[in-house]
Amino acid sequence: MTDQELVDRAIKMQEFSYVPYSRFPVGAALECSDGTVFTGCNIENASFGPTICAERTAVAKAVSEGHRDFVRIVIAGRSRELCVPCGVCRQVLREFAPNIEIICLNGAGEERTFTLEELLPHSFGPEYLQ
Ligand code: THU
Repeated sequence: MTDQELVDRAIKMQEFSYVPYSRFPVGAALECSDGTVFTGCNIENASFGPTICAERTAVAKAVSEGHRDFVRIVIAGRSRELCVPCGVCRQVLREFAPNIEIICLNGAGEERTFTLEELLPHSFGPEYLQ
C-alpha cells in the first residue's frame, strides 16, 4: 500500500470514532509486514477510563486476527498539533514492534514520521522478562 493510501485509510477511520466527550476523533491504520492493514478509531466511554485510543483498537484487531509483525502506523487527528500516540499506546506498540515507524498527522494533513525509539526511549519490553 502506498503512503498516501495508508494515510487515507487512517483519516477515513475518524468517521467511526465514538467521541461524545472529547469530540476529538482519531483514526489509525496499522500495516503489517505481509501488507495486511488493520484500522482503528477511538472509542470513548461515559466512565472515561475504559476509553480506547485508535491505535490500540487497530492493534487489538490485528493481534486477535493472528498478526503481530507491524511495520508502520498512521495516526490521524484533527487538531493543530500532530496527533502523537499517548504513553499507553507507545508501550502497546513497543510490545510487538520496537522498530515500528509512526506517522502522525494533524488536521491540516501535515505529517511527521517518528521511530518508536524516539517517542519511547529506554523502553521496557518482553525480553526483560525472559
Ligand atoms: N486519542 C487517540 O485515540 N489516540 C491518540 O494518539 C491520542 C488520543 C483519543 C483518546 C480520546 O478518545 C481522545 O483522543 C482525547 O484524548
